[in-house]
Amino acid sequence: MVLNFAENAVILRVEDIYVAFGGVQAIEGVDFEVRQGELSAIIGPNGAGKTTLLNCINGFYKPQQGRIYFQGRDISNLSPDKRACLGIGRAFQGIQVYQNMTVLDTIMSGRHVLMKTNPVQAAIYWPWAHKEEVAHRKVAEDIIDFLEIEGIRKKIIGELSYGLRKRVDLARVLALEPKVLILDEPMAGMNLEEKEDIARFILDIQEFQGIPIVLVEHDMEVVMDIAQRVIVIDQGKVIAEGTPTEIRGNHAVIRAYLGEG
Ligand SMILES: Nc1ncnc2c1ncn2[C@@H]1O[C@H](COP(=O)(O)OP(=O)(O)OP(=O)(O)O)[C@@H](O)[C@H]1O
Ligand SMILES: [Mg+2]
Repeated sequence: MVLNFAENAVILRVEDIYVAFGGVQAIEGVDFEVRQGELSAIIGPNGAGKTTLLNCINGFYKPQQGRIYFQGRDISNLSPDKRACLGIGRAFQGIQVYQNMTVLDTIMSGRHVLMKTNPVQAAIYWPWAHKEEVAHRKVAEDIIDFLEIEGIRKKIIGELSYGLRKRVDLARVLALEPKVLILDEPMAGMNLEEKEDIARFILDIQEFQGIPIVLVEHDMEVVMDIAQRVIVIDQGKVIAEGTPTEIRGNHAVIRAYLGEG
C-alpha cells in the first residue's frame, strides 16, 4: 500500500503549551498543528495570545510547559536563529526592520542565517565568497521581482509607507527560504489595494512555492477568503477550529468577539 504523506503531513506541532507573564496566563494549554501546503489562520480578540503563540513557535518565548516540534524534531530548546535556519520564517506585527537600511540590504539580511561565508571574506571578494554573494543576490532579486518592489530596491526603509515596509519585511522573511511562513497581521494598517496585493502574494507563495502559511489577521473578510483552516483563540485557549464556513457560524466564536460571557 502506498500512502501519500506529503500532502497532509504535519510540519509543525505545538503541544500543550503554557505561557505566563507574571500573573497573566497568556497561553493556557494550546495545541496547534501546521500541515504541509496549508494556509491556516489564527484569529481571536486583542490580547487573546496570538502573537505570544507565534513567539513560542519562532523561539522568542520559551513556554513554561509544553513542546514544539518542527519536521518531527523537538525544537523547544533551540534559539530563534537556529529555528530560522531550520526554515521557520516569521514576519512581525510591528515594523522591526532597520529604518536606515536600504530595501535590498534588508532583504539580504534575511539571508544571513544561510550564508556560509562571513561578511569580512565577502568584503575582500575571495572568488568563492564572490560567487556565493552573487547567488544570494540572485535570490534577493527574484523576491524583489515577485513582490513587485523593483522601484524601491535602493530606497531607505524609513522613507517608505507603512504598507511598503510590511511588504519589505515579507521579502526579508522569504529570503530565508522558509519551510513555513508565519505572518503576524501582515495587512494591518494597509489600504484596500495594499491588502489585496498582500493577499495575492500570500496565495501565490502558498500555491506556487508550496510553503505552508500561518496567518494571524484581524480582517475577517480576508481570513475567510483565503484560509483553509481557522483556529480561534480567546484568553489563551483554543475555543474553535474548522473551515471558514464552520467558524463563521460558531457560537463560541461569536460570543468571544462580542465580548459576552
Ligand atoms: N512580553 C510580555 N510581557 C507581559 N505581558 C505580555 C507580554 N506579551 C504579551 N503579554 C500579555 O499576554 C496576553 C496576550 O498578548 P498577545 O500579544 O499574545 O495578544 P494578541 O492576541 O497577539 O493581541 P493583538 O490582537 O492585540 O495583537 C496579553 O494579556 C498581553 O498583555
Ligand atoms: Mg498580536
